[in-house]
Amino acid sequence: MVDQPKGSSHLTPSAENGPELRKAFGQFATGVTIVTCNGTNGPMGITANSFTSVSMDPPLILWSAAKSSLRHDSFTGAEYFAIHVLKQEQKSFCEIFSKDSYDFDGVELHPCPKNVPLIKNVLARFECVTYAIHDAGDHTLILGRLTAVMVSEGKPLIFSQGKFQDV
Ligand SMILES: Cc1cc2nc3c(=O)[nH]c(=O)nc-3n(C[C@H](O)[C@H](O)[C@H](O)COP(=O)(O)O)c2cc1C
Repeated sequence: MVDQPKGSSHLTPSAENGPELRKAFGQFATGVTIVTCNGTNGPMGITANSFTSVSMDPPLILWSAAKSSLRHDSFTGAEYFAIHVLKQEQKSFCEIFSKDSYDFDGVELHPCPKNVPLIKNVLARFECVTYAIHDAGDHTLILGRLTAVMVSEGKPLIFSQGKFQDV
């Protein structure tokens, strides 16, 4: 029997253990991004913390879209998309795009030749052409090949344990 530190628990990963599994996944601290594309009903965004870098050569990133999301098909069907890494002071973007896909009111944008919203003043921005789409259980992995990158100065917005964390 493995010695368990006080307050820890072991679980079998299964549908019945969903809340505990979600809690375990949530222990991993991530940044927060807004992914944008030109969807079937026009330019749109979604808050996502599943972003990760994948490859330097070729330059690839990925994020995963929940199949349960109304936005899923727009993102999996998009030829181009952009990932925006948020700064600490950009919590409001996270809140807007976790609720409303199309609300760019008050969000400053660069000119967007492919109708993919490019949000100004973020910590980093990755413009991508869709490279591959992989089925992954109740999510779809969307891999992008970078076509342009912007990097800036500032502190990242951090999300862990279901809430924003101070850096
Ligand atoms: C911090 C945070 C991270 C999220 N990360 C993801 C993600 O990686 N993938 C995803 O599909 N949805 C993610 N969501 C959920 C979406 O932002 C959004 O709330 C959800 O798609 C709403 O459902 P709808 O698309 O059906 O309107 C995240 C939400 C929050 C607040």
